Amino acid sequence: LLQEQSERKNHSGNLLQRNPNCIIIGVRKCGTRALLEFLSIHPNIQISKSEMHFFNKEHNYKKGLEWYRKEMPYTYEDEITIEKTPAYFITKKVPERIYKMNQTIKLLIIFRDPTIRVISDYTQVCHNRMAENKTCFQFKDLVMNPMISKVDTDYRAVDTSIYCKHLLRWLRLFPIEQMHFVDGDILLHNPLHELRKVETFLKLEHKFTADNFYFNSTRGFYCMRNTTTERCLSSGKGRRHAKVDPHILDNLRTFFQPYNKRLFKMINHVCVYRC
Ligand code: A3P
Repeated sequence: LLQEQSERKNHSGNLLQRNPNCIIIGVRKCGTRALLEFLSIHPNIQISKSEMHFFNKEHNYKKGLEWYRKEMPYTYEDEITIEKTPAYFITKKVPERIYKMNQTIKLLIIFRDPTIRVISDYTQVCHNRMAENKTCFQFKDLVMNPMISKVDTDYRAVDTSIYCKHLLRWLRLFPIEQMHFVDGDILLHNPLHELRKVETFLKLEHKFTADNFYFNSTRGFYCMRNTTTERCLSSGKGRRHAKVDPHILDNLRTFFQPYNKRLFKMINHVCVYRC
């Protein structure tokens, strides 16, 4: 990879800031940061390190595409520029805005078991509330609607995990061939497996090898290396999850079942969650 990175200097053409030709649009808490950071060690990929929130936040969108472009890394024409903002996946107006910028853009979407994603989402929000000296609501009080004893679809963490509902909006505009679905549960345990599939989707030469990933037992996660650096994700990724009553867990798994079934039909893939 080091050799490849130095070869970056040998590209023909100009080093310019360009709008992304690939976006990780979500899903929040499914491993979007791991996916982006792992991809960044590929010699032909340059990433925007921070989440831009360009297409979902009015005050950013108003700044215009020129502003967005100038936030992007410098790339050569044959390189891939990737931005990731997980809020894009669930924000209604975003597909149309991205389509307006580039109809042929490639979209990366990472999914994870929807029930575990809800717990991860809750854990993060709770962590942030505690950091602001606010109290945390009980998981069961947010997830279950006490009036009807059913899973509460008004709870945003539940709504976000109804993947098929949000994906439908994207499929109305973009052909499925422009999308690639990453399995976040596999990325966690075997990053190379998922990253090689992304390389194929992006029509990149296969550069990732097993040497680029090593398991850090202190962190309990895979970290990345190339010949110059070794790096893990920040401690905000991979928090200890809140303990959940098995009965609530079962309610959630049953709730997501028909949506999972629909999702895997939509993406033409064998179901890997409870369907
Ligand atoms: P948890 O914090 O629930 O464990 P996102 O970046 O979209 O917010 O996703 C965060 C999730 O990425 C973490 O969820 C963690 O499980 C997952 N993840 C996948 N690979 C990881 C890695 N190598 N290091 C840290 N977290 C990783």
